[in-house]
This record gives sequence, structure tokens and C-alpha cells, in this order.
Amino acid sequence: MRLRSVPPAICVALLASPTLGQDTELREWANEMFTPVPATVPALNDNIVTPEKIDLGKALFFDPRMSASGVFSCNSCHNLATGGDDNMPTSIGHGWQMGPRNSPTVLNSVFNEAQFWDGRAADLAEQAKGPVQAGVEMANTPDNVIATLMSMPQYVEWFVAAFPDEDSPVTFDNFAKAIEAYEATLITPAPFDAWLNGDDRALTDEQKRGLEVFLEAGCATCHNGVNLGGNGYYPFGLVERPGADILPEDDKGRYQVTETASDEYVFRASPLRNIALTAPYFHSGLVWDLDTAVEVMASSQLGTDLAAQETTAIVAFLTSLTGEIPEVVYPILPPETSSTPRPTGEVIPN
Ligand code: HEC
Ligand code: HEC
Repeated sequence: MRLRSVPPAICVALLASPTLGQDTELREWANEMFTPVPATVPALNDNIVTPEKIDLGKALFFDPRMSASGVFSCNSCHNLATGGDDNMPTSIGHGWQMGPRNSPTVLNSVFNEAQFWDGRAADLAEQAKGPVQAGVEMANTPDNVIATLMSMPQYVEWFVAAFPDEDSPVTFDNFAKAIEAYEATLITPAPFDAWLNGDDRALTDEQKRGLEVFLEAGCATCHNGVNLGGNGYYPFGLVERPGADILPEDDKGRYQVTETASDEYVFRASPLRNIALTAPYFHSGLVWDLDTAVEVMASSQLGTDLAAQETTAIVAFLTSLTGEIPEVVYPILPPETSSTPRPTGEVIPN
């Protein structure tokens, strides 16, 4: 028998499939709330993405010498082999210090309207300057980063190639722009995107049921757009404040940015792509299990208790957001020279 032609009986069965009509309706609703990941690298504000800039940004992302100790690279806490995060409750950085919050994934972070759990950085270029200088992360200074880069001729050549119109391209701004360009390539099309784009069979029946519950329960009021989140701020505990075992009292979220009383315990609705890869959950990283995180959300944000099968279905839907991670070839970094600043365990004063 020739395998290439599909027997007519099967074609008829597919056309008559009872789920086909339902999918159309559900898809229309879903397409009002969500946007598929684009097929190509998105354009950035004020930062043209070129192959040279992407390659430079990738080298910087993986280079531990961008930290004062020479130990921590962006990839230490945003490990591209483990979902773009570190899978720790809160991150460990310079001098083995434990930071205050869980590390979010860098995958698809280009689609977030603002960066960080509290949205305090407007875009990825502004964001990239933060961890380098944070005492509990890379504990470095812009001057020391530039001195480190200038000491390696290969880096200087790469900056010249990435910023061809500039006389002295090795700057902290350009460091951040190159990293932003690399991060813009870290996008992960998932089965959910294939389904939004019209492929009925990209989701299982259980995942479709989960999507329906997600929409009906009201999760998409806050988790919508390309990243199913990352684009709005809400009190964690809108209806019912979780206990300190999940929401520690000392981290008041956006209040620390705006100093407005109504922003106490307000956080950005988390982006949910690749959520099955990025336990533990919440800014505190205190919940290890996705079922529990979904139940906490239902009670704290919506005041509902989900039935066990509803929780299971939502979790099944959330796994359809696990995307195809771009293949990463580990970069070979420029060798140090005698003028490269030496690593230090001390925090370099600003
Ligand atoms: C020691 C661990 C650590 C290192 C090193 C680190 N980060 Fe992070 N990163 C974090 C944590 C923790 C957060 C969340 C902080 C917050 O919201 O207050 C974060 C947030 C981010 C975000 C925001 C994502 C989102 O969804 O809002 C991006 C993007 C990011 N980091 C990129 C980088 C880049 C680029 C570097 C290297 C220059 C880097 N990080 C180095 C731990 C780290
Ligand atoms: C009123 C807005 C709102 C609603 C409704 C809402 N969420 Fe959230 N969601 C948030 C906020 C804000 C956070 C970040 C909480 C924090 O600070 O850790 C979050 C975080 C999450 C997380 C953890 C993400 C991570 O990276 O750790 C998951 C999972 C989640 N939501 C799923 C859901 C589900 C499923 C529903 C529906 C049952 C839902 N959410 C309803 C606002 C909302």
C-alpha cells in the first residue's frame, strides 16, 4: 500500500470530528486574549538587531568576567539549559549571598512590557545594567566592566563590528544594548501558538479543557497578551492575601518603586510561557508545585476554589506553553590579558 495518500474514509472522519466546531469558538475567544509568538526576532526600540550585535550580546551573556568575582554570568541565574532561570527559591550571587527574589526566565522576556517582578525596568537594555551592579548579583561597576572589555582586543573588535557608526563603541550602554539584542532571540514558539494559528491537533483535549477553565475562571484578565502576563500590575492577594509562607511581609513589591500606599504587595502578573520549566513559583520562590501555584492564584486573585480536575486541566494547558528553546552553541570567549582587572570577592565601591 502507498502511504502517501490518506484513505478517503479518514478524511471524512476528520471533517466530521465533533471537536472541530468547538475549537473554532474557543480559538476565537483565545485569540481575543492572547497573541502567538512571532516567527521572527521582534524589533526593539532604539536598538537595531544585527547578527554582529546578537553574537556580542551572547558572549556577554555567558561571560562570568562581567561580574566582580569572575564567577557569575547572566547565565548563572538565567541558565538556558534549565528554562532560562536557576530553579532556586531565590538566587545566589556574589559572595554566596542569597538575593531577595526568585529569578524569572529570560526566555520571551522581550515581550514583557516592563521587566522585574515589580516592573521597575522599562526594557531589557535598562534591565541588563541592574544585575551587573547589584551587590547580591554580580557586584561590579560600569567602569570595571568597561576596563575588563577594553583589556581584551577581541571584545573591542566585536563592539566595533556591532556598533559600526560609533567612534568609541565600548560603552556600558552598548553592553546593555548588545545583551538586549541577544535576549530578543530567546523566543520559544509552543504548541499553544500552533493551535492559536489554526492547528486543532496541537493541543490535547485535556489542554483545551484547561484553556477553557483558564478563560472562564478569569485567569486571562491578568495573564493575557503574547506572554500570558508581563503586562500589568495587580495586588498579590487581590481577593485574599496569602500567608507569609507564600507572600513574605517584607517585600512590598511595586510600593518600593512608586511609594504609593495602594501599590503595597502589587506585582506584575507573571508571564506564563515555559512555566512548567521554572519552578519554584512566585517572587518568593516558596511554592514548588505548579498545581499548588494555580490553586493559590484561584483563591488569592479570584476568590474561587477550583475542583481538582479543573486544576489538573489548567496545569495541562500551561504545559502547552512549553516552547521550543533555541539551540545554543556555547560561545568561545576572548582570552584575558595582563591588563584584565583581577577577580575579587570584595564588592567594588561605586
Ligand atoms: C545572581 C543571580 C542573577 C544574575 C547573575 C543575573 N540575574 Fe537577572 N534576575 C535575577 C533575579 C533574582 C531577577 C528578579 C529581580 C526582581 O524582580 O527584583 C532577575 C531579573 C531579570 C530579568 C527580568 C525578567 C522578567 O521577567 O522581568 C532579565 C531580563 C534578566 N534578569 C536578565 C539578566 C541579565 C542580562 C544578566 C546579566 C547581565 C542577569 N540577569 C544576571 C537574578 C540574576
Ligand atoms: C488579578 C490578577 C490575576 C489573576 C486573575 C490571576 N493571576 Fe496569576 N499572577 C498574578 C500576579 C500579580 C502574579 C505574581 C505573583 C507574585 O508576586 O509572585 C501571578 C503569578 C502567577 C503564577 C506564578 C508565576 C511564576 O513565574 O512564578 C502562576 C502559575 C499564575 N499566576 C497562574 C494563574 C492562574 C492559573 C490564574 C487563574 C486561576 C491566575 N494566575 C489568575 C495576577 C493574577
